[in-house]
Amino acid sequence: MPDSKTQTPELSELYSRHSSKWRRFNADVLPMHVAEMDFAIAEPVRQLIARMAHESDLGYLGPVPEVARAFEGFARDRWGWQIHKAELKIATDVGVATVEYLRANLEPGARVIVNSPVYSGFYEWLKELKIEPVDVPLAHTEAGWRLDLDGLEQAFKAGHLTLLLCNPHNPVGRAFDREELTALAALAKRFDATVISDEIHAPLTYGEFTPYLSCGPDAEETGVVITSSSKSFNLAGLKAALLITQSPRMAARADRCPPGMHWRTSILGAFAMAEAYTNGRQWLDTTVATLDENRRHLKAELERLLPDVGFELPESGYLAWLDFSKVDVTTDRIFDEAKVALVPGPDMGGERYDRHARLNFGTSKEIITEGLERIARIL
Ligand SMILES: Cc1ncc(COP(=O)(O)O)c(C=O)c1O
Repeated sequence: MPDSKTQTPELSELYSRHSSKWRRFNADVLPMHVAEMDFAIAEPVRQLIARMAHESDLGYLGPVPEVARAFEGFARDRWGWQIHKAELKIATDVGVATVEYLRANLEPGARVIVNSPVYSGFYEWLKELKIEPVDVPLAHTEAGWRLDLDGLEQAFKAGHLTLLLCNPHNPVGRAFDREELTALAALAKRFDATVISDEIHAPLTYGEFTPYLSCGPDAEETGVVITSSSKSFNLAGLKAALLITQSPRMAARADRCPPGMHWRTSILGAFAMAEAYTNGRQWLDTTVATLDENRRHLKAELERLLPDVGFELPESGYLAWLDFSKVDVTTDRIFDEAKVALVPGPDMGGERYDRHARLNFGTSKEIITEGLERIARIL
């Protein structure tokens, strides 16, 4: 009988983990910043890793058709998306795949569009490449967060012809719908622009998820999807990702990436990814159900403990974008006095977000409540 909930170890056990989340700060700080979940990983993946270690099967990564086969099945069964297996490339992680794709296709000094508030890594990757971000912020409408298609059209018109899209969106949790993405693809096609769609959070979507490349010929002609099992199956340290195109034009651009992208990928990561997409699906369903409860728990606890903090339920993932504009507190104070680590809003698009912060709720309900109680105590 499978668990009805993905289990989180006790805090004492979590503090003995070796990852950055649990090592970066002293043990009096509750880390709710970096995007990794506290959950125990899927049993089939654990067994695969243990078996490979036991058999000393830890050499360099060779050809790995298992990943393409596994992702093909996963994308078809979950999202009705038929990938072109032959156009799938392996990469060390999503950051490396994005940086190498951009390095191979743009010159330093070029400009790339982002939609703030957005994952801080995007800014770091562009900085590494000496590429300037051009911000077309997400629109916050009555219906929730939406792509600003007029703003994107203006940016394309101005000659900025690459968009680094985050779908589903970190930190606001929006899973863009088919209508929006199809309209985006038509715009991109009209201006001969490229959409790099980072879909790393996709399997954790509560409702429907739409892959960019499933949005028809315009999307195929303009898009490259970069993703990994690392975020959704909690395997970030294993280092493996994939990059997919679906048209000769975009495949030719992806082919400019260095072969080292494959060779620098971890053998454990690649085979764990294939295992996760194939035999980790039950774990994933349980985890999404657990996160669904967590996002509702977070909302209820915010209303109880911090009623002036704004929060909208994300459509995907385990990140919460908190609006502190009605509360007299900063993330520095939350860190120094409440001893809770959040990601400061400005990391996700500059000072306009200085009254916001991102909180990770991929943990137990008790730890979520503990974090909010700590913050409530200093107000
Ligand atoms: C949207 C997004 N892309 C990429 C990453 C990093 O992925 P990787 O570790 O595979 O580079 C993260 C991590 O939080 C993320 O949220």
